[in-house]
Amino acid sequence: MGTKKISLTGIKPTGMPHLGNYLGAIKPALEMANSDDFEGYYFIADYHSLTTVHKAETLKEYIYEVAATWLALGLDPKKVTLYQQSHIPEIMEMNWITSCFTAKGLMNRAHAYKAIVQDNEERKRDSDHGVNMGTYTYPVLMASDILFLKSNVVPVGADQLQHIEIARDIASSFNYVYGDIFTLPEAKVQEGDLVPGLDGRKMSKSYDNHIPLFLPEKKLKKLINKIKTDSSEPSVPKNPEDSIIFDFYKLFATKEQIVDLDAWFRRGIGWGEAKLELFNVINDHLKGPREIYNELMADKSKIDKILEEGAARVRPKAQEFLIEVKKSIGVL
Ligand code: ADP
Ligand code: TRP
Repeated sequence: MGTKKISLTGIKPTGMPHLGNYLGAIKPALEMANSDDFEGYYFIADYHSLTTVHKAETLKEYIYEVAATWLALGLDPKKVTLYQQSHIPEIMEMNWITSCFTAKGLMNRAHAYKAIVQDNEERKRDSDHGVNMGTYTYPVLMASDILFLKSNVVPVGADQLQHIEIARDIASSFNYVYGDIFTLPEAKVQEGDLVPGLDGRKMSKSYDNHIPLFLPEKKLKKLINKIKTDSSEPSVPKNPEDSIIFDFYKLFATKEQIVDLDAWFRRGIGWGEAKLELFNVINDHLKGPREIYNELMADKSKIDKILEEGAARVRPKAQEFLIEVKKSIGVL
């Protein structure tokens, strides 16, 4: 491994990744992996999806969609290891060990679990309605994903910060007893806010307010046209700061394009025109990757091979470290 730091991140296969996933996690992770300071390990967190996706065919398709997304957006499998979580059974062994160093109270305080409980209470249902143990202990598995490869840095969106803190807590509890076995990971969060969704809340598959990355052009245009706007006439000057269209535009446009559109807003722009500008800038960015994505999805054997190679690279490291961990707790 040399002196390079380990950068690791995972994406749950719960549907085609969206612009928020790209800007918040995938893009920064790829930039990091392309620098000489890091060795990248990026994976498809399929066992995390099993907490909610209970249709085999659907899960399988989602796994390919996430793998194809990484590859289409520029992950070079020779440089960066791409793998599927469930291909590494050692993570599950690690998961039991880490769970024995996780205070139950830590799980009670996890945001995602708390949000479900709150929702249940608001709907006057049993507070644990729909919560399986996978959902409840989700952060332990995530900690295991991170710790088993001695990850130094975890590029994620800001909504995942608590999970990284939990991984650090679990690692510290273990290390307190057995010495410096686990590496404490650090989160690397993209500057700026979470990418907003079509309704202005955080873009998320769960809110159905997202723009999937590789929609066919026509569908992308249709979705962008659905962004809600007021009824002001084209000639009325508009404040770009108040517009979600402009927010999105800034994520993809060059500095000059941003200055130009800013001026156009202030002079008065029609919402149809603004949406077309937005469509063009996003589409220009995604046209190339979309072609690669469609090719990979049409012949999945290439993805299978890359994931197999990924597992073959990761498992020996996992096995070696697991021996160290098992020796430290006294079972070996
Ligand atoms: P979703 O909320 O749509 O289910 P995931 O939980 O699968 O998304 O997120 C995968 C990665 O993308 C995580 O690192 C997460 O922090 C990041 N991410 C998700 N939504 C956003 C967003 N709106 N803005 C920035 N990053 C995001
Ligand atoms: N929980 C992350 C998400 O919802 C996915 C994930 C699973 C992950 N294991 C991970 C991210 C390990 C970073 C590191 O987006």
